[in-house]
Amino acid sequence: MPKTVWITGASSGLGLHTAMALRQDGWQVIAGARSFGEETAEDGTVRLPLDVTREDSVKEFCRKAAAIALPDALVQCAGMLVLGSCEETETEEFRRVIDTNYLGMVRMNREVLPLMRKRGGGKIVLFSSINGLLGIPFQSAYTASKHAIEGYAECLALEVKPFGIQVMLVEPGDHRSGSDKYRPHAAAMTDDSPYAAAYESATRQIHHDETNGSDPDALGRKIARILDRKRIPFRKRIASVDQHMGVYIHRFCGARINSAVLRKYYIRQGK
Ligand SMILES: NC(=O)c1ccc[n+]([C@@H]2O[C@H](COP(=O)([O-])OP(=O)(O)OC[C@H]3O[C@@H](n4cnc5c(N)ncnc54)[C@H](OP(=O)(O)O)[C@@H]3O)[C@@H](O)[C@H]2O)c1
Repeated sequence: MPKTVWITGASSGLGLHTAMALRQDGWQVIAGARSFGEETAEDGTVRLPLDVTREDSVKEFCRKAAAIALPDALVQCAGMLVLGSCEETETEEFRRVIDTNYLGMVRMNREVLPLMRKRGGGKIVLFSSINGLLGIPFQSAYTASKHAIEGYAECLALEVKPFGIQVMLVEPGDHRSGSDKYRPHAAAMTDDSPYAAAYESATRQIHHDETNGSDPDALGRKIARILDRKRIPFRKRIASVDQHMGVYIHRFCGARINSAVLRKYYIRQGK
């Protein structure tokens, strides 16, 4: 019997690459995204519509997926970000990011945990980010959502361990997979913004880093290999050497040095 994985945000980017890698490794893959109808892809992946911001959509996805096969693993990749200064990002824009990235995971887990408990175990993979560990200018909504995921995952892992459920945080650095469609600019970020020069510099760097980022196929294969193990690690950072360095600087060098390094890297012309 093949093992079954349910995966969110699987229409694009790292979710798609992870779904393909799992499928190639023989998993039965049930994938969700808003842009999916109810269909079976050429490689056998079952696609179902899913909007993680809607309670009814999450329940419907889980009901339909459970009728096909209960999950041995749940991989949560659905995500988005809004680029903008803290001052000019609207509350509604913050809400959209938190609702998708963080509360979307909470909703899915609330449906899947009872299923895994009844089966006596399972694996839950939550896509965080390097931004779950440190802040990057003009990504505050995204960074806040990923920090929320990090704290939530620690609580979750402690609670579900007795039921044989393992939790893993994946913390990717930049990968050349993400679509600009999921990275809108905050509505207020115009040329008149007091942050315009710094914003232009930082978003250019962010775009450069993603375009030249790590290989998304390699990430997908790495996750598929880890999910095949009996025991999975709680944290898996998948990033370039300089991004690992950034995390160490943040952790060990203190706020002043960290701020100087990040400002120099992202805000070359800004005030
Ligand atoms: N790419 C990177 O460099 C990078 C780095 C660190 C972390 N990550 C994390 O990795 C994950 C994937 O990001 P990505 O950049 O590779 O992919 P992406 O191209 O930005 O794709 C985002 C995915 O999320 C889905 N999605 C968005 N809103 C959704 C909603 N409300 N309900 C259900 N699905 C939704 C999209 O599908 P539909 O539009 O069809 O719903 C799409 O499949 C995210 O959690 C992201 O934060 C990525």
